[in-house]
Amino acid sequence: HSIPNASIVIFGATGDLAHRKLFPALYQLYQKGHMKENFSVVGVSRKEYSHEQFQQEVYEAVNEHTPGTESDKVKKFASHFYYLKMDVTSEPSYHELEELLNVLDRDYQTNGNRLYYLAMAPRFFGTIPTFLKSEGITNTEGWQRIVIEKPFGHDLPSATKLNEEIQQSFNEDDIYRIDHYLGKEMVQNIQVIRFGNAIFESIWNNKYIDSVQITSSETLGVEDRAAYYEKSGALLDMVQNHMLQMVMMVAMEPPGELKPEHIRDEKVKVLRSLRFFNEEEVRKNVIRGQYTDGKIKGESVPAYLKEENVDPESKTETFVAAKLFIDNFRWTGVPFYIRTGKRMAVKSTEIVIQFKQGPMALYHANTEKYQPNLLRIHIQPDEGVSLTLNAKPKGDTSDLLPIDMTYNNKSATDMNSPEAYEKLLHDCLLGNSTYFTRWDEVALSWEFIDRITKTWNGTGAPITYYNSGSMGPQEAEQLLYADGHSWWEPTKV
Ligand code: BG6
Repeated sequence: HSIPNASIVIFGATGDLAHRKLFPALYQLYQKGHMKENFSVVGVSRKEYSHEQFQQEVYEAVNEHTPGTESDKVKKFASHFYYLKMDVTSEPSYHELEELLNVLDRDYQTNGNRLYYLAMAPRFFGTIPTFLKSEGITNTEGWQRIVIEKPFGHDLPSATKLNEEIQQSFNEDDIYRIDHYLGKEMVQNIQVIRFGNAIFESIWNNKYIDSVQITSSETLGVEDRAAYYEKSGALLDMVQNHMLQMVMMVAMEPPGELKPEHIRDEKVKVLRSLRFFNEEEVRKNVIRGQYTDGKIKGESVPAYLKEENVDPESKTETFVAAKLFIDNFRWTGVPFYIRTGKRMAVKSTEIVIQFKQGPMALYHANTEKYQPNLLRIHIQPDEGVSLTLNAKPKGDTSDLLPIDMTYNNKSATDMNSPEAYEKLLHDCLLGNSTYFTRWDEVALSWEFIDRITKTWNGTGAPITYYNSGSMGPQEAEQLLYADGHSWWEPTKV
């Protein structure tokens, strides 16, 4: 689909996200021909830059983060970029922005279509939309859309306040709350694997599924983000958004149609059925951990408490494991185990659907080789699906041999699958909000998370520790042992 003519305003254009993700993603849309010549991008930040300097930065960022670029093409792409130094909290800045946008509307015939991307510190998320509206910038004939990065608030009250502020200037339909996990190729593929295959959807329930595991592990530590991470921790950084989004994609009912509202309606229903824990249930079902020192790929790395700008007595969690329950007809009795953490043994995101055993143990009574059927959805770094079955070894009639049927998304297409940001920007420019989070999803996810935070901050639940380079604390293993389960280690396709 071709993207309509438009101006894109990036607030926070000198930041990391803009350089690493947004400029390369826009470039991909351009070089693939989805974006023609009628677009302009205005970069906004507090730094002093000329248009030319900014264009040079864009040029370098695209070259650095996109393999195999053509220099002329990147130059031409960068020539669509403009720069404006702004203090986003002060009204006069917005007059300059409006003047610039009016000129660009005319030069690029954008019909007044404008996309505002807030890639700035969250404290400005409420201020910017208010000014955009009050200064009349959103008052054009074209469409006006706003993309908001995470975190969307830090609990339900703050998210509600922020939402009310934004909704005074933008309609819900024009607010695109971004969760980049929803732009990942294999996260979007979950719904096709489920609803496009009768063999799966008919057994996708508590009669046939034993349990679901979702692991998202990282090898990186807190890096230079301690100021943010100390306040957020893994619960707010990963669980409130990315992990719950994957739970919703796995657990949702089939939508009536593949329309954004149909899909989002079904997703939000999962959260309505998610069991919201009381304090005792939090203590029982949610484990928080923090990394100590250890080794990642043979290299020694420091404990979280020794990282720069981390309080030496910090109780911030860098790991969360939880057992979730979805109390509805489809899922009652099926535990959803999730875990995520930094400084773990591998960088991997994988969903494992574990099926129940057949009604009679004809083949696996006397052998340990029996494996339950597993459907693994490999989100990253490998992208693909694999299904574990039991067969017999060649020539031998008395034994079992687990075999894997695999599909590797990357080798099949033999090209890089588009980055999450590219897909999400594309969708947003086309006005498709399917893979963005709706307010009711955000509100419910905070309601769930707030109960955990409250228990942790109040009467407490002990923090556990794990060595860097491991797969998390012992307590996370015990969470599953208690049910006769254990974590499936991430695999490759
Ligand atoms: C971000 C978190 O939202 O997701 C980071 O703020 C985390 O802490 C990142 O590292 C993980 O994303 P991905 O795509 O690398 O799995």
